[in-house]
Amino acid sequence: MDGNGRWAVNRGLPRIEGHRRGVQNVRGIVECAGDLGIQYLTLYAFSVENWQRPDTEINALMNLLNRFLKSEISTLLKNQVCLKTIGRTDRLPEKVRHALHEVIDQTSHFSGQTLVLALNYGARDEAIDAVKNYTEAVQSGQANLDELDWSTFAGHLYTADLPDPDLIIRTSGETRLSNFLLLQSAYAEMFFTPILWPDFGPGEFREAVDFYWKRERRFGKTGDQVQRKTPTSEPVLNQ
Ligand code: IPE
Ligand code: MG
Repeated sequence: MDGNGRWAVNRGLPRIEGHRRGVQNVRGIVECAGDLGIQYLTLYAFSVENWQRPDTEINALMNLLNRFLKSEISTLLKNQVCLKTIGRTDRLPEKVRHALHEVIDQTSHFSGQTLVLALNYGARDEAIDAVKNYTEAVQSGQANLDELDWSTFAGHLYTADLPDPDLIIRTSGETRLSNFLLLQSAYAEMFFTPILWPDFGPGEFREAVDFYWKRERRFGKTGDQVQRKTPTSEPVLNQ
């Protein structure tokens, strides 16, 4: 969700006003994802690198996150959306952790749509945490290093109970992943748009999803292998 700051600066407003509008934009996108039958939507809300921003901006972002959680819980309950997080959330301010706990607790039984917030998330930290986690399992005899494969390792990532992303959307014209789901995005389709996040509405989201449906996903195979050929006529046998 990139471009909040530029959206505000372009209008002569403080950056935080862009974040406010960016947060307001989230509800419509989550509802649109639900309407489209998209079961998992992950929002990259705060990266490990974002701590380097000025304290005033970090505080404002944390306040917005806190208010978002408090104001959106009723909509999430109404729409039966389960909230999850990825990232080192234990390092977030207490009030945010408390608000998160509340929403996660109250929505954990929903299985139709899942909203994942990436908070204090970084893919490199995630890999390190997974290695530590897995090493502990080996040391305690619960895992055997000789049997380590991708699916075992993936089971130690923050996303252990989530599928890999099919589509990654980045707004604001930047064409990089910025430490987001680096391992899980191995075969994700990428959609980059110059539109700034506060202007990225359900119409733009649907365009990104339409782009996704036009892609041929080969996962290393040839086009012939993955294209399901429907015969135009019954094959003629025994001639
Ligand atoms: C994205 O908008 C929001 C967060 C990272 C929290 P930015 O704040 O990165 O907006 P720009 O890139 O400065 O326009
Ligand atoms: Mg940015």
